[in-house]
Amino acid sequence: MKVNKRRSSGIIEEGANTIVQEARTIKSLVDEFSNFARMPSIRLQSADLHLIIEQTISLFTGIFSDIEFETQFSPEIPTPLLIDPDQMRRVFINLIDNAIDAMNKKGKILLSTSFDKVQQRVNIVIADFGPGIPQKERDRLFHPHYSTKKKGTGLGLAIVNQVVSEHNGSIEVETNKPHGAKFRIQIPT
Ligand SMILES: Nc1ncnc2c1ncn2[C@@H]1O[C@H](COP(=O)(O)OP(=O)(O)O)[C@@H](O)[C@H]1O
Ligand SMILES: [Mg+2]
Repeated sequence: MKVNKRRSSGIIEEGANTIVQEARTIKSLVDEFSNFARMPSIRLQSADLHLIIEQTISLFTGIFSDIEFETQFSPEIPTPLLIDPDQMRRVFINLIDNAIDAMNKKGKILLSTSFDKVQQRVNIVIADFGPGIPQKERDRLFHPHYSTKKKGTGLGLAIVNQVVSEHNGSIEVETNKPHGAKFRIQIPT
C-alpha cells in the first residue's frame, strides 16, 4: 500500500478531516441498506468488474493503514460484464468491511478473479487472515440478523447473498489457509 507521510500540520489536519469524512461515507455505505426490505432490484449494465473492485478497495485504503490489499485479477474475465455495478460495489464493501473487522483492522485481504471457460462463470474470491468462521455457524451466516458483533446488524452478508442470487450466482464460504475466511462468489456470464 502507498504510504503518504505528511509533515505540515495544516495538511495533517486536512488529511484527518478527509479520513473522518471517508469513514462516515463507508459507514453510511455499509448501513445504506440496513433496511433490507428496501433493497432495490438489480439493474444490469455493462461494467468492468476489476474497476469496481479497485474502486471499492480505494474507499478503504486511506482509512485503514494497517490493512494490506492484494489483488490477483484474471485477464480472461469478459470485459465488460453484465452486472449491477452499484450492487456489486455493495457486495465488496460488505465483504471487505467484515474482513477488516475479523482481523481487528490489521492484516491482509486478498481479492482474486478467475474465469471458468467451460461453465462460462466468473469466480471472485475474497480471503482474509482472521479467525475464520466455525463450520457450525456457516449455515446461518447469510441469514438476516445473524451477527456475533456487539453492534452488528447482521445484514451485510444477507445483502451480499441477495445481490449475488439476483445475479443468478452463488456464494459459499470456506476456510482460508493458514487461517481466516474465504468467500467464493460465482456469477454466470
Ligand atoms: N470475514 C469474516 N471472518 C469471520 N467472521 C465473519 C466474516 N464475515 C462475516 N463473519 C461473521 O458473520 C456475521 C454476519 O456478518 P454480517 O452479515 O456482515 O453482519 P455484521 O457484520 O453486522 O455482524 C458476523 O457477525 C461474523 O460473525
Ligand atoms: Mg458486516
